[in-house]
Amino acid sequence: MSKLWGGRFTKQTDQLVEEYTASIMFDKELAEEDIQGSLAHVTMLGKCGILPAEDVEKIKDGLHAVQGMIRRGELEYTIQNEDIHMNIEKTLMDQIGPVGGKLHTGRSRNDQVATDMHLYLRKRVVEFVGLLVKLQEALLEQAANNLDTIVPGYTHLQRAQPILFAHHLMAYVSMFQRDIERLQDSYKRINVLPLGAGALAGTTFPIDRHFVAEQLGFDRVYENSLDAVSDRDFILEFLSNASMIMMHLSRFCEEMVLWSSTEFAFVELDDAFCTGSSIMPQKKNPDVAELVRGKTGRVYGNLFGLLTVLKSLPLAYNKDMQEDKEGMFDTVRTLQGALQLFAPMVSTMKVNTERMRQAVNQDFSNATDIADYLVNKGLPFRQAHEVIGKIVLYCIQQKKYLLDLSLEEFTGFSNLFDGNIYDVLQPENVVNARNVYGGTASSQVSAAIDRAKTVVEQSQAWFAEYLEKSK
Ligand code: ARG
Repeated sequence: MSKLWGGRFTKQTDQLVEEYTASIMFDKELAEEDIQGSLAHVTMLGKCGILPAEDVEKIKDGLHAVQGMIRRGELEYTIQNEDIHMNIEKTLMDQIGPVGGKLHTGRSRNDQVATDMHLYLRKRVVEFVGLLVKLQEALLEQAANNLDTIVPGYTHLQRAQPILFAHHLMAYVSMFQRDIERLQDSYKRINVLPLGAGALAGTTFPIDRHFVAEQLGFDRVYENSLDAVSDRDFILEFLSNASMIMMHLSRFCEEMVLWSSTEFAFVELDDAFCTGSSIMPQKKNPDVAELVRGKTGRVYGNLFGLLTVLKSLPLAYNKDMQEDKEGMFDTVRTLQGALQLFAPMVSTMKVNTERMRQAVNQDFSNATDIADYLVNKGLPFRQAHEVIGKIVLYCIQQKKYLLDLSLEEFTGFSNLFDGNIYDVLQPENVVNARNVYGGTASSQVSAAIDRAKTVVEQSQAWFAEYLEKSK
């Protein structure tokens, strides 16, 4: 089969070389974007008088026909045609004859492939904002239902101070909000048109790049033709943003794995999101959470893979850059899978409020509050800290918790204690005493939920607007 670029060759390509250099096995995922880009390009060729109107019409009809074949799964991709761009071009020529060969006027595969990936990734970025918003909604709902649920808060995975479970969940809402904002910001750099850069230097044809940009909904065109065809920063940025999202999900997964263990028993994950063991009949494993945690590794790997591919590449296009695709597609699929499962896993998670309460009653997470109590009575904080340390040690030796101590026992450590210490130590009061902006007091957490709802509405509006724009 003759190659689209076969003119200067006297020999057939070695079959192993053909297989080794082809990308059609994976870049067929860009078929829709490739057609979309070609339609805009050929329209521009007509508008600029580079191709006669009748050729433009034939090519457009042909492209639509090829698009139909792709959508119906009828296009047979071949390795001989190397990649998606040449598979489509060859099929176009089979459909409409030699006039199809005019489509590539003033264009190179280098600016073409870059354009396809910009189109592809901007759609994905918008979809990911939508999925993150759904996850935030699931978290907000659980948070609103758990405004009275008190749970130990941890540092070093040691009980630290009691907090509202809602407050803990809202921390993730903030993390995913930063992820959303990073994706939204990256859109500015993705939504730039490379087409018109040619192979590397521009083109001799009097093309109109801004007209193409306008048709495809790009806000800008690349300033420099070399940069246009060799830039993959926008993919790296996406891979980096995806890595951070996976890292956030993975931290949450780790907590779900811990919380659903018998040792914690703070939550129970829904049966639909767990699997059993082939040997131990009692097992209910949090596989989804574990797997999301595990798949974080491949997403980081894809980021490092592409960083390494691009390092030391001379300008402009090099075939090495074909390696940008599989990691990007894999990251998109991995992130889609994780986010799609996560929201329902959070929504269906049963919270064991009693067990959480029991944990809070049987710990020293109210110790800071007695120190603060003595400080309010005039004792310097360092001295108060020392006194409470001794009380805690006494309790451990006596197998008691702070609320079990008699007033005599308290006053044995400091005569500043009086009867209202028992109120101060109640978990509700401990929580509500942290009444600072961003703190765990229930009025603060309710206000935080309200503010987050407004932010989520803004993200929804952004999503609706950009879903249209990115098509
Ligand atoms: N399949 C190639 C890629 O994905 C398309 C660009 C090829 N350009 C070239 N000069 N060989 O990078």
